[in-house]
Amino acid sequence: KKTIRDIDVRGKRVLVRADFNVPLNDDGSIADDTRIRASLPTIRYLCERDARVILCSHLDRPQGVVVERLRLTLVANRLSMLLGRPVLALQDCIGPEVESAVAGMSGGDVLLLENLRFHPEERANDPAFAEQLASLAEIYVNDAFGASHRVHASIVGVSEHLPAVAGLLLAKELDAFTRILKDPDRPFAAVIGGAKVSDKLGVLENIVPRVDLLLIGGGMAATFFASRGYGTGASTVENDRLDDVRGISAKAAELGVRLLLPGDVVVAERLDAGARARVVPATAIPDDLVIADIGPGTASEFGQALAGCRTVVWNGPMGVFEVPEFAEGTRRVAATLANLHGTTVIGGGSTADAVTRFGLADEMTHVSTGGGAALTMLAGKPLPGVEALEEAEEP
Ligand code: 3PG
Repeated sequence: KKTIRDIDVRGKRVLVRADFNVPLNDDGSIADDTRIRASLPTIRYLCERDARVILCSHLDRPQGVVVERLRLTLVANRLSMLLGRPVLALQDCIGPEVESAVAGMSGGDVLLLENLRFHPEERANDPAFAEQLASLAEIYVNDAFGASHRVHASIVGVSEHLPAVAGLLLAKELDAFTRILKDPDRPFAAVIGGAKVSDKLGVLENIVPRVDLLLIGGGMAATFFASRGYGTGASTVENDRLDDVRGISAKAAELGVRLLLPGDVVVAERLDAGARARVVPATAIPDDLVIADIGPGTASEFGQALAGCRTVVWNGPMGVFEVPEFAEGTRRVAATLANLHGTTVIGGGSTADAVTRFGLADEMTHVSTGGGAALTMLAGKPLPGVEALEEAEEP
């Protein structure tokens, strides 16, 4: 699929859908600007060619009404600082005031439309709303990898009305996932964790036939333990998923994929800071305790197993890493990947948060900016935003 590099953008009005859905602190300030930074290459590329850059994004889930604390002014200010040029934040994303602001733009100007989700039409993929957005520009660029699993007006609807291409971030994300799924250097390992196995079933089913090694951690390990008849203490077991999990284990065995479950785990009464933690074998979890992290023996075993791999994809933390007492397993897996001589791809969401928190994001080959979108890719499913570009008119 074409990107902005393949077309003539000089002097054009370009509508760029970015994913500026950044986490906010309680006081409303930006907690992590990774997604804003990740959009810079596309914006710079366009500015350098005197395009008139009209940015749009959602922030959080305001349900179709204006929520003052979810205005994009703060995003515009941060972006302006990072970009080193003014970024004008508008008060709406469609309508006469927006049209006149766009009409007044010169080459190289950047403006940011207001939070798309202040209009219910965005999530409803309303055709008239998409057409109004499209009418602002001559070219549409999707650079919102993190939102490309959504069938929303600014992600799929707009490309029905304009020549449409991928931005540099979207292209980079697609390349990273496509390469490891289609043609990975081997041995290829997947590390899958997180709280719930039901969130990862699609990924597990798609990844098992592709990998040489599968490592399971996080709260979801409890359902794997239960599927093998171990006691899981007070941990949450997804009983309706036991058969799926047995199916995944059987598939791995049939294909000769080495499947490693934690041999020891950190358990605690509660998953909060200050809770008393101890390490027990995975086969001897006390009745009243919950799994909070993989144990130190497991972290070492995972480290050794991963050391010889040429490609590793990681999605889902090994424990409740937000709580210092339960962060060690996730930190050690992150450190192993940071030192790996090979390709390391980190699925977005909380796994990306973890490697960023440990200061290791720059040591990875690719840290995805998408949560749900990365899961969709890893599950081998198409992204509606990418399909829309494929169907759109060629510039
Ligand atoms: C994300 O944060 O995963 C994307 O920005 C999509 O947000 P959404 O889940 O609210 O659609």
